[in-house]
Amino acid sequence: MAHDSIVITDNRTNQTYTLPVKQGTIRAMDLRQIKTGPDDFGLMTYDPAFMNTASCRSSVTFIDGERGILRYRGYPIEVLAEHCTFLEVAYLLLFGELPTESELKNWVHEITHHTMLHETTKKFMEGFRHEAHPMAMLVSTIAALSTVYPQAREIHDAENRLLQIKRLIGKMPSIAAMSYRHSLGFPYVYPDNDLTYTENFMNMLWKMVEPKYVANPVLARALDILFILHADHEQNCSANVMRSVGSSQADPYLSTAAAAAALSGPLHGGANEEVLKMLDEIGSKENVPAYVKKVKEGHGKLMGFGHRVYKNYDPRAKIIKWTAEQVFEVTGRNRRLDIALELERIALEDEYFIQRKLYPNVDFYSGIIYQAMGFRPEMFTVLFAIPRTAGWLAQWQELLNDSDQKIARPRQIYTGHDVREFVPMTKRASMEVNAG
Ligand code: ACO
Repeated sequence: MAHDSIVITDNRTNQTYTLPVKQGTIRAMDLRQIKTGPDDFGLMTYDPAFMNTASCRSSVTFIDGERGILRYRGYPIEVLAEHCTFLEVAYLLLFGELPTESELKNWVHEITHHTMLHETTKKFMEGFRHEAHPMAMLVSTIAALSTVYPQAREIHDAENRLLQIKRLIGKMPSIAAMSYRHSLGFPYVYPDNDLTYTENFMNMLWKMVEPKYVANPVLARALDILFILHADHEQNCSANVMRSVGSSQADPYLSTAAAAAALSGPLHGGANEEVLKMLDEIGSKENVPAYVKKVKEGHGKLMGFGHRVYKNYDPRAKIIKWTAEQVFEVTGRNRRLDIALELERIALEDEYFIQRKLYPNVDFYSGIIYQAMGFRPEMFTVLFAIPRTAGWLAQWQELLNDSDQKIARPRQIYTGHDVREFVPMTKRASMEVNAG
């Protein structure tokens, strides 16, 4: 019997099966041979929310949630945050290696020259209501890029794919900045190619009548670090959507729009906005114990706490805490930081949170920094989506080059009626119908 295998005895039939084990997994399709008879469909696994199912092999990002480790292409996140720029990290995620000096120069040049939005995209965005949520504007506009670049449908052409990747990474800050300025009623600021990726983003957000925008270098670097920390996170909810939609061979704009939509939810990237609301609701340090008590009694959650994978301190939250100090030296301390620190202190000493291994995640401190920099909470998830685009695209490229992949299509356990006789309208009994 092969050493790397598992033996399953089906007590329904007394039959025994030997299944190969590879990299700590069995193939779900190997279970299909386990049947009670010729009419049996075969054994499946039931795994809502993919709690224990690997949907792909990936060499992009490694997480050890128990030990609080995050690496992109083998490099620890702490090292990348200290030594690299966001575009350097985006290159690493997409191509697998850190760029040489000339490769980076070329890459930065190419991304910089794809920051401009087509005037029709600008007009499209002008059609949004002034109070539209910036994240909804972002999602819709990314999808609308598909109408500007119809050749993006040629997803099997590697050169074409790379062009769309550069466009997406280049244009995300432009769309994000325009959605921000649209909500304020300010005119769109065109990109400035003399500036770095984050400086240019700041320029498009905050330039008013001055002839040349000069970004504060500490804030520009802090934003760059935050972008590095948010660039990828293996098979999270939005990456899974990117892969799922991408598996139908939709174009990268539509797949990225779908991934961004997944990110917008309060249990995923939308949590950073919710953290700020929560801190404002708490109001002061003194109210923290009462708030924690309420959460423990089942009234709401501590937003920015807990993670499906991390059962230890999120390594990104540690770097964000350090970055916050740098930002506050420029902007002054955000009073919400004191409430957040107290919340963290009390929660980490509390049996409820200890038992469930609930630690601050990336969203816990990021919103406080963003707010100190001058962003409104509605923009926080948009700020998350800009760098995550690099991760989504790296996951998408990997998917398209993986011969194991097919259109994503889970199975179900059907719980509805067996075949029924049709009831004519006159014989139907009325009932309260719940939508859903
Ligand atoms: N506050 C209070 N209790 C919590 C929290 C929280 N933030 N998170 C989880 N719990 C509790 C659950 O109620 C559950 O308790 P129980 O065992 O008594 O029922 C237990 O901890 C396990 O939680 P699950 O919901 O099963 O964990 P899951 O892995 O499904 O959820 C998630 C992870 C969605 C992140 C969850 O922790 C959460 O909702 N956190 C708040 C939202 C948030 O910060 N999201 C951002 C995540 S990071 C990111 O996406 C970028």
